[in-house]
Amino acid sequence: MKIWIKNGRVLNPATKTDEILDILTEDSYIKQIGKELSSDQTADADQIIDASGCYVMPGLIDMHVHLRDPGLTYKETMETGTKAAAMGGFTTILAMANTSPVIDDAEKLSAVYEHAESCSPIQVLQAASVTKGMKGKELTDAAELKKAGAPALSEDGKTVMDASLFRKALYQAASLDMPVLDHCEDASLKGKGALNQGAVSKRLNVEGITNAVEDIIIARDILLAKETGARLHICHCSTEDSMKIIRAAKQDGLSVTAEVCPHHFTLTDEDIIPGNSNYKMAPPLRSRKDVNALIEGLKDGTIDVISSDHAPHAAHEKTSDIASAAFGIVGLETSVSLTISELVRPGYLTPLQMAEKMSWNPAKILGIEKGNLAVGKDADITIIDPEAEYVIDSETFASMGRNTPFHGRKVCGKVMYTICGGEICKRVR
Ligand code: DOR
Ligand code: ZN
Ligand code: ZN
Repeated sequence: MKIWIKNGRVLNPATKTDEILDILTEDSYIKQIGKELSSDQTADADQIIDASGCYVMPGLIDMHVHLRDPGLTYKETMETGTKAAAMGGFTTILAMANTSPVIDDAEKLSAVYEHAESCSPIQVLQAASVTKGMKGKELTDAAELKKAGAPALSEDGKTVMDASLFRKALYQAASLDMPVLDHCEDASLKGKGALNQGAVSKRLNVEGITNAVEDIIIARDILLAKETGARLHICHCSTEDSMKIIRAAKQDGLSVTAEVCPHHFTLTDEDIIPGNSNYKMAPPLRSRKDVNALIEGLKDGTIDVISSDHAPHAAHEKTSDIASAAFGIVGLETSVSLTISELVRPGYLTPLQMAEKMSWNPAKILGIEKGNLAVGKDADITIIDPEAEYVIDSETFASMGRNTPFHGRKVCGKVMYTICGGEICKRVR
């Protein structure tokens, strides 16, 4: 299969390219990139895509996805989750380990890879848990997990509260050069908190979650990363002080990276509709001041990555009782349009910076040969029409999860094609 992508705005963060170019793929690789490829190069193309007016980015990588398979397939399956990823423009995703059972040994990890191989249109990477069964007591065998193909360790969903055990995990990870993806919430301080602590949590009479719940663990783990030399990636930052702490760590030269999710830069706790638990996630939606600080962090490079924290749940787990509803919202099919609408259109990020945070930086953190549109590289390509406006309709999602606060929101920026390994796995036109 040969695909000729014509006249697109090619955005390659690896080389800082932002130019109108043609790309030709052959089989699973990029064969040519150039200005107006010659007719003998393109004569036998099987597909011609007119990408005029569109962004052509390296295939997007979402390094924070809950696929729910194995064991929680009433929320999402390997099939539906990876289809949702393709629809959202992602050619690679990293699945988190908080499934049932937890992915904590090589056998379970290999089973996920086999399953993905049988049905996923895109590349699935699987993270391994830090502790066995995510019980926070005993470390997993990171060396064995790395050998079986885990690019990262993560206890996401929780924090390893035993600091001494987490330090041991960081020493192991450092010796193996594996990044640790860190969910930062102090369980004792969080208690039964459901929403950001403030006027809104008071008005709705639900327990609050203060910023310190998150910031204390971010600070703790950055200090432990300094002590151990580990590569630490801070998941889903939501607070103003997290930006200050991470900025200082980077200035200190530590191997610390960080991510923000679209819901955290788009919404504040003031947007929460009473009785709608689709506004409930961990960490919670914060204040305007926090959101402004996150945008500043995205602009100045404190934040390396935009990831979705796609967390599908069934309707019965997201009832109108916010206090008891599950934490989490889906995100694979809304990340691109929210990033364009909220960050690129207003001029906070350039399209090239968007590509950097949604492909090149995640690839570097995970240590994979992706995120670079160059001859000889994998033909993973995402084509986006940045001007296309539409209304988000959760009923059309490929994901089984309908838990989004963005249903009915008018957005700008639409994924037109997702090409993975030289195969078109989403097309709009
Ligand atoms: O809101 C969240 N949902 N945050 C997490 O960290 C976990 C996730 C889940 O697994 O549902
Ligand atoms: Zn998390
Ligand atoms: Zn998560």
